[in-house]
Amino acid sequence: MGIAISPSIDPKASSFVSKTAKILIGGKWSEAASGKTFDTYNPATGEVLARVAEGDREDIERAVKAARKAFEVGPWSTMTASERGKLMWRLADLLEKNLEEFATLESLDNGKPLSIARAADVPLAVDLFRYMAGWATKIEGATFPISVPYAPGAKFFAYTRREPVGVVGQIIPWNFPLLMAAWKLGPALATGNTVVLKPAEQTPLTAIRLGELFAEAGFPDGVVNVVPGFGETAGAALAAHPDVDKVAFTGSTEVGKLILQAAAGNLKKVSLELGGKSPNVVFADADIKGAIRGAASAIFFNHGQCCCAGSRLFIEQPIYDQVVEGVAEQAKKIKIGSGLDADTQMGPLVSAEQLARVCGFLESGFSEGAKAVAGGKKHGDKGYFVEPTVLVNTNDKMKVIQEEIFGPVVAAIPFKDTAEVAARANDSIYGLAAGIWTKDVSKAHRLAEKMRAGTVWINCYNIFDAALPFGGYKQSGWGREMGKDSLELYTEVKAVCAQI
Ligand code: NAI
Ligand code: MG
Repeated sequence: MGIAISPSIDPKASSFVSKTAKILIGGKWSEAASGKTFDTYNPATGEVLARVAEGDREDIERAVKAARKAFEVGPWSTMTASERGKLMWRLADLLEKNLEEFATLESLDNGKPLSIARAADVPLAVDLFRYMAGWATKIEGATFPISVPYAPGAKFFAYTRREPVGVVGQIIPWNFPLLMAAWKLGPALATGNTVVLKPAEQTPLTAIRLGELFAEAGFPDGVVNVVPGFGETAGAALAAHPDVDKVAFTGSTEVGKLILQAAAGNLKKVSLELGGKSPNVVFADADIKGAIRGAASAIFFNHGQCCCAGSRLFIEQPIYDQVVEGVAEQAKKIKIGSGLDADTQMGPLVSAEQLARVCGFLESGFSEGAKAVAGGKKHGDKGYFVEPTVLVNTNDKMKVIQEEIFGPVVAAIPFKDTAEVAARANDSIYGLAAGIWTKDVSKAHRLAEKMRAGTVWINCYNIFDAALPFGGYKQSGWGREMGKDSLELYTEVKAVCAQI
């Protein structure tokens, strides 16, 4: 469709978007039960990119049945941990082998620069699967000395087992479509669960293509099921399903709360990775040049569509003008264009809806007295582009300071001292991440302790590793993804006590 005819595009990606993408249930690819399809768009042009089967309640029903069967009776349930790890490693190898295709699909569907998808999205997903493959053989319990006052003389052998939770529903967003699928699938599979994955309706392609690799890697049918569709229909059915043991969600705080309500029916376990309004604090004793570059990339990376985007830039007063000027200069230099163009540094926002939302925030900021020293409006008249924007003259009560914009918009805010900035940084319903820029090591770690945030970056930003847990305080979510901590989300602990 449209874009697929360009000869410069990876031929496998081009061929993938030319066919209607299907639903994966129990190892078989099918149309939606309703026969319906929906379109995904190329956000750089607003044109239709691909047609996708539109999963709904009935498809979720079938997918959950397939996942249940694979969990209870399939070869997956009797496989050794080592075999499971080997499959995951094989999947990572396949993903790496198809890097160019995945990066191209991601860039087409989401709008992000192909260069970024190649360097970050796909390699991070590969690494995540390898890291989690290693955990498969290291899911351990413990033994316990038992002293029972009412059973004098009796001896017991007591131990714990970490067992998979069961059938897991995973609902992911559109900002890092493949990587979010990896963050969710990795720990779920390493610990032996089966999964029904619902990708975001804006960007379903890489998750669907990944579904093909699971079969190629040798995963048994039904271990991973992929049901593309809309949130209010397929997503809601998955979150509410009585035979789903756990739901994992990444997306808006608003929908996170709906997931929680839906999960209450059967009290399924819930993990949530939600919004943010992360503070990024630059002290006068920082490496100013590095801090300026870091502050710009903290907000402009992925066009600001990061839950951890450094959207509130606190700058110590003596260097306020210098840093604002520096970040504005960086913003103005950013080359905006289609993700497929080699020199593009920032692509479009993901959708017309997201464009309208971000522009709405800008208008609200301006009407309350904020000023833009860089950007401030939509870019061009085709596609969903917004100029990288630096706002000044804000106050802490404004909507642009309190609410997540999820676009390339940063507010530069002056502050006087550490105590003041700690309080203001924490003045948010969110608590996902924070940044600190200073050469004073003690000051950095003292402030890191005060930050009510799941991640604190010091003299860096947006550094991710499969080993490092990621997640939020307050309304930024429940639980931690990646790292050893994520395994807890996907296991139940069973205490076994035997009299011997
Ligand atoms: P969203 O929260 O509606 O979408 C995320 C996922 O949830 C998608 O797969 C969607 O289909 C699904 N979903 C939507 N409604 C659902 C429901 N009732 N039940 C089950 N699943 C449902 O996010 P949206 O509308 O695309 O973006 C709105 C705002 O959310 C953004 O402007 C941004 O502030 C925030 N957001 C945060 C993300 C993060 O990484 N924390 C990612 C995406 C959006
Ligand atoms: Mg929504």
